[in-house]
Amino acid sequence: MSSTTPLLDVSGLTKHFPIKGGFPIRRTVGHVQAVDGLDFQVNEGESLGLVGESGCGKSTTGRLITRLLEPTAGKISYQGKDITHANRKQLAPVRSEIQMIFQDPYASLNPRHTVGKIIAGPMEINDINPAGGREKRVRELLEIVGLNPEHYNRFPHEFSGGQRQRIGVARALALEPKLIVADEPVSALDVSIQAQVVNLLQKVQQELGIAFLFIAHDLAVVRHFSQRVAVMYLGKIVEIADRDDLYENPRHPYTRALLSAVPEATADDTPARERIRLKGDVPSPINPPSGCRFRTRCWKATDKCASEAPPLVQVEGNKPGHLTACHYPETHEATTAPVLSKEPVA
Ligand SMILES: Nc1ncnc2c1ncn2[C@@H]1O[C@H](COP(=O)(O)OP(=O)(O)OP(=O)(O)O)[C@@H](O)[C@H]1O
Ligand code: SF4
Ligand SMILES: [Mg+2]
Repeated sequence: MSSTTPLLDVSGLTKHFPIKGGFPIRRTVGHVQAVDGLDFQVNEGESLGLVGESGCGKSTTGRLITRLLEPTAGKISYQGKDITHANRKQLAPVRSEIQMIFQDPYASLNPRHTVGKIIAGPMEINDINPAGGREKRVRELLEIVGLNPEHYNRFPHEFSGGQRQRIGVARALALEPKLIVADEPVSALDVSIQAQVVNLLQKVQQELGIAFLFIAHDLAVVRHFSQRVAVMYLGKIVEIADRDDLYENPRHPYTRALLSAVPEATADDTPARERIRLKGDVPSPINPPSGCRFRTRCWKATDKCASEAPPLVQVEGNKPGHLTACHYPETHEATTAPVLSKEPVA
């Protein structure tokens, strides 16, 4: 692999779930367009944040990349190798290098297995025997994630939520992965615990050089964790940029609306952002709006937005690598969006 090849390269990635209906013969009567043509890369050791409202396709994207789901279309390359439709055997060497951490630390750990068995699970499945044995490695991993190695024989219910998520992190690290897809890894945890787990993941990313696709609902969590951020809306990436470009110069109206809800996004020396009120609900991914999918909630939508889907490109004024899918990108000037308040967002 040359140094310019991204670790993960995704192009045109699409997942349409068929909807079955009809009687007596069940036929496909439509599709949920959960993910619809994503293009993005993750470089070695970097963290890409993937952000968007509930139902926009974040988990589906994570499950496609880890190949828990079969893509409908598009291409996934890992270290330059096409793994889009790789079978079990072809995937085996890659499986250990791409791991997933799930949102719910309660549901993702087998309650009948000891912590030792859970963390050693991936080593067993992949028939990996580290020097010194699996138990020694598990104890090391417990230490790395800040748990007591002596708790090797305890069961998940004996741990708190934050500790259980640490167990999930230890399990993901067992095979020395190069990429971890973390699907809302802290949103099920108490706010007071969230920062601790984010810090642990940050340590893992920096010290072990592991790349992350970090999935989150809002822009607050990824701000401290991801060097680059992609914003999704209804199955599409609407904006992607280096973190600072995105937070300081959001060009897509949806990014701007999301950012207006993040209190800490406002630097001390700049006036507080006005909180933008989006009208209506997210449309159904079964029958998304024509043209720009955001147009039913956008305060700037025109006929062009209804007829032409805006491509994800480096619009005028964007730095290299900052791509925006909008016909009328935002500028720094005051927005005409309906605002909730001019007060600093509490
Ligand atoms: N197995 C499935 N069959 C049919 N539809 C599905 C399936 N999995 C997900 N979907 C639909 O695909 C869309 C995207 O779901 P997904 O779980 O990827 O969203 P998400 O962004 O992770 O949301 P959340 O923030 O709530 O976790 C939703 O409309 C969801 O209902
Ligand atoms: S393309 Fe049109 S509808 Fe879509 S975000 Fe831009 S201005 Fe709004
Ligand atoms: Mg999800």
